[in-house]
This record gives sequence, structure tokens and C-alpha cells, in this order.
Amino acid sequence: MAFPPQFLEEIRARVSLVDLINRRTKLTKKGREYLGLCPFHNEKTPSFTVNEDKGFYHCFGCGAHGDQVEFVKQTEGVSFPEAIERLAGIAGLPMPVMDRRDKARQEKSATLHEVMEAATAWYVSQLQSQAGTGARGYLERRQVTPQAISHFRLGFAPNSRTALKEAMIARGVTEDLLLEAGLVIKPDDGRPTYDRFRDRLMFPIGDRQGRIIAFGGRALGDAPAKYLNSPETSLFHKGHILYNMAPARRKAYDAGNVIVAEGYMDVIALAEAGYEQSVAPLGTAVTEDQLRILWKMAAEPIMCLDGDNAGWRAAQRASERALPLLEPGQSLRFALLPEGQDPDDLIKNEGREAIETVLKNAMPLSDLLWKKEQEGRQLETPEQKAAFETSLMALCNQIQNQTVRDYYIKHFKDRLWKWGRENNKSGFSRGIKREQKGKRFGRFANQTGKFVSSVDPGQVLAGSTKIGKGEELLLLTVVNHPEILESHFDEFASLQLSTSELDRLHHAIIEIATSESDLDYAGMKHHLSTRSHSDQTDALNKQAAGLYWFVEQNAALEDATRGWLHLLARYKREALVQELRVAQELLERDVTHENLDRLKNAQKALQEADGNEADLDGFGVASGREAGF
Ligand code: UTP
Ligand code: MN
Repeated sequence: MAFPPQFLEEIRARVSLVDLINRRTKLTKKGREYLGLCPFHNEKTPSFTVNEDKGFYHCFGCGAHGDQVEFVKQTEGVSFPEAIERLAGIAGLPMPVMDRRDKARQEKSATLHEVMEAATAWYVSQLQSQAGTGARGYLERRQVTPQAISHFRLGFAPNSRTALKEAMIARGVTEDLLLEAGLVIKPDDGRPTYDRFRDRLMFPIGDRQGRIIAFGGRALGDAPAKYLNSPETSLFHKGHILYNMAPARRKAYDAGNVIVAEGYMDVIALAEAGYEQSVAPLGTAVTEDQLRILWKMAAEPIMCLDGDNAGWRAAQRASERALPLLEPGQSLRFALLPEGQDPDDLIKNEGREAIETVLKNAMPLSDLLWKKEQEGRQLETPEQKAAFETSLMALCNQIQNQTVRDYYIKHFKDRLWKWGRENNKSGFSRGIKREQKGKRFGRFANQTGKFVSSVDPGQVLAGSTKIGKGEELLLLTVVNHPEILESHFDEFASLQLSTSELDRLHHAIIEIATSESDLDYAGMKHHLSTRSHSDQTDALNKQAAGLYWFVEQNAALEDATRGWLHLLARYKREALVQELRVAQELLERDVTHENLDRLKNAQKALQEADGNEADLDGFGVASGREAGF
């Protein structure tokens, strides 16, 4: 709908840009402008400026730029009209009345929405009825919990040609509307219409606001297609929609990422494992539109793909689609699963930890491209090497953004050079074999260790949101680098651990540190073993191996300390985020001054914490690594 220009002006005039942005990132006044850490990319020194007079913000780091409307659109991942609605709310302005054409269009889609909603409710009721017994058994076998069934509004389409049609007609829905909604099929030969979905488990598909606009139906019996989706309708354009996009959109901003899986069941399993910011395309490769939607949710969506050939092809297609659209700071990451598993399998078979590891080690797009080009090539003769380089450069040339393109070219040139040198030492073909020997996740061999070490540590750490893991790493780093305690004993001692096992280790470390002077790794190791903590720390070391290099004993103390401080900041931040969540919930339930204050304090504490994170500039240099990227 078109908004009158005066209305938009009024909104811009009434809503202070600085106040609006201050809710997301702490701004400080510098002359005529305000300065802060950019909310659109990860940075440690502020390059984000806000000019209230001119009414825009600009980031010198990533180029983000816009006004109030743009800010709301970007940070909340909403459309223009939704952003206007939110800002109007803040400004206390009533929304303008729509013109007649807008109204007619909206009423029409309102009725289609109502039909889809009624159908969803009916499928849900069928799943809970006698007819749904088999489908319920199926879900139980697949370990889908009742909570997930209700959260995702799973339903059942019974094995009948007209059950839905009759139920809807009884509710006053016309056959025409059912057709238009894609719920019934009209045969060409003039026979009566019949239900599109029969004997299928039903996955309602929502739009950006969560209104149901389509269904995916999984066959329960013998059917030629395992999944059947709604056809394109006036509500549903499959290339613009992602399964679970509305809930994911809400969660993605806080989580700082979004996960793209291949199937509906994967999204559900991921959400149950705590990754509610998960979506899936609807049975097709990711489209450009879907990529754009994803980039509104997070700078580097993680493509979490099945560990089979189809998954590998999907990764390649996504990378090809993304290349021309890359922008500074805007990319994809790729997490390919162990051979033969999809995210749902992995979570069911090996638990949350397994998927967490896979996600944390997702490789950057540049690594994926390198692997993809390397695959199946002989790289022994100069000509073969030249062909390899040529194809890498051809990929770079698809990148439209010049800055990104230049960095890619440089990246691949450097890498070719380094690789050539390494392989000269050991023989080119032996080099390849060696690289393949570390096969852990099939094609994504060496996904851990090797790739992570080339990644900006800030980003690696950004992935660790789970307190449990953070605690373990905090302890382990100190076990491996007891010298940290010389300058940070109090911070360490005041940690509150969440399991008794970790608590015991924490106590042991404190005891050892207070009774021993000049404690080093060997000393710590010895004293821990006399207190029977060796098995525990060995297990922790194994878990952390390759994930966080600075934790390991051979990292320089300086890096270990900075990495540790960074983990500590994250860990404290997580607690503050939790508090913020609680405060928000309390306020939603009951708007009192007290609850409002609690929320404000939580927000403030979080902003302060964000301003105080350990500096990662030059991180890694002391351990002989290249700083930054
Ligand atoms: P998968 O076959 O990987 O499905 O297809 P899945 O989600 O793991 O399903 P389960 O575990 O066997 O129940 C991935 C996605 O591809 C689409 C669906 O969107 C599915 O979720 N698809 C698959 C189709 O559209 N049609 C098909 O016949 C198969
Ligand atoms: Mn599956």
C-alpha cells in the first residue's frame, strides 16, 4: 500500500533516530554526530555514525546506510509497510486509511488467508482424531515431540478424496476459494474437484508474518512423491518463501545467525535442539529472492546441508547463486553433515552437541569454492595447475561487488601460492592425498581445525552461544594456561558453573592455584591428576580440539589470555541476554514500573557489556598466526 508522503515525513520527524538506534547499539556523542559499534557487522572499534539532523546513519565499516525506516527494516527483518507500522506505533501516530483498491485487494487475500487458516485447523484436528492414529504413530517413531507438533501446527490429511472439501464447504467456504487456495484439484475432464492432499502428514507453511499460505504434505503410505507442496497461488510464491521464516526471523537477530536446512523435518529437529532460527527452501534450490531474505536475517546464513551427493550439489548451487550477490560483509557459510545424514538424523543419532559442532565449524564460502574447484582435478602438471587457477579466477569474476571481488582474487592467489609451496616440499599429489586423509565429514574433510584457524576468531566465538560449552572452555583454557590466573584470578574464581562436575573442577583449580606458586601447565596437570581430574580434562581437551586453537596448550599465553577474556565476556553476555529475555517476558505479562525498570537495566547492562568486549586486534600474532583475515 502507498503511504502519503506527509505521513512518512511526520514519522521521521517524530521518531528520534538516535533513540531508535540506541536500543540496539550504544551511541556516544562526538561533535554533531553520534558514534557506536555497527549493529550490522561485527566490529570492535566503532565506525557507525548517526546524524540526527540529517536523519541518517552511516557505517564506514560496512557501508550500511539509511533512515529510521531502513533501520527498522534491517534490524527487525520486516518489510517497508511493517516498518512503518512499528514506527507509527513508536510515534503514536494512527495508520492512514487505505484507498479502495488496496482495500479490495486486502479483503480478497484476507478471505484466502481465512481459508488456509481453517484448513490448517482442520488438518490439526484430524491428526488428533481417530483417523490420525497412524500419523501420530509415525511422528512418535520419528521422535517429534508433542510440543513441536503443536508449535509447527502439524496436521494430517486423511486418505479420502473429499474429506477436506466437505469440511470446508460445511464451514461456508466456496469451492472456488478452495481451488484458488490450491487445496482441491479440478480435473480437466469435468469430473468433480477432489482434495489435493490425501494420506499425508501436513506441514503448514507461513509467510513472513506467520500467516499460513501453503502446505507441504509428506506421504505416509505409498505415493509417487514423498513430499507434495501447494501450487503457486496468489498468496504463495514458493521462490519467495522459506519454511519457518516468521519464527526464524524473530530469533535470527538475537542469535546472530540463521540456518538453512534442506527439509521440513530438519527445521523441526533443529528448532527442537534450540536453533529456532532455522528455515528451509520448499523443495527447490535456494533462489536469489530467498538469499536476499536470508541476508536480511543475518550477514552469513549457514547452509546446513545433507551429507550426501544431493547436499553437496545443493551447496554448489547455493554458492553459484550467491557469488554475484556478495557484498562486503555479506556471505554464506556451509556446514556439510557427516556422510549419509541430514540434520534431523544427526540430532536424533548424536544429539545437540553434534549439530552444534557442525554448525560452529561451518566453512566460509571461499573455502567451499576452493574445494569445489579442486574436486576431481589432477593437479600435477603446470597446465593442470593453470587450469585450476583459471577456473578459480572465473568464479571471482562473477562477483559483482568490486571490493569483494578484489579480496577474493587476492585470497585465491595467496592460497594457490601457499599451496604450491607446501606441495613442492612434499610432492604435489602426495599433498592432495594427505589433505584427504583427514576425512572426517566426507567432502568437508578437515572442516574443523584447518579451516577454523583461518577464520576471524571473533566470528568463531560469536557462534558459541551455549553456556555449557562456554564454561567448559573457560576452565580448559585455564588448565592449559594456568598463568592466566596470575592476572585474572578473581574473575576466574567468581565463575558460577552450571554442573556439579564442572564445579568440582573449578574448585580443584582454585585450590591448586592458591596453594602452588609459579604454577605452569605441567604443574597444573600434575596436581589435577592427583585429584583425579585427568580423565575429565582429557575429555574436555578432546572436545575442544581444533575448535578453539587458543585454548590449546601450545598457543601463546598472550593469545590464550585474550581468547579467554573474550569467552568470559561472551559468557557474561549470555547471562545478561537471559536476564533481558526474562525481563521482556515479565513486561509482556504485566506492564508495571518495576518490570519496565528491570528491562531498562537489563538493556543497559547488555549494552555496557557489549562495549567492553576484549579487543581482538592482532589476536593470533603471538602464536605465529596471521592476524585478522
Ligand atoms: P528430503 O528427502 O531430504 O526430506 O527432502 P526430509 O525433510 O529429510 O524428509 P524425511 O526426513 O524423509 O521425512 C528435503 C526437502 O525437499 C522437498 C521437501 O521440501 C523436503 O523437506 N521434497 C523432497 C519435495 O518437495 N518433494 C519430494 O518428493 C522430496
Ligand atoms: Mn530426513
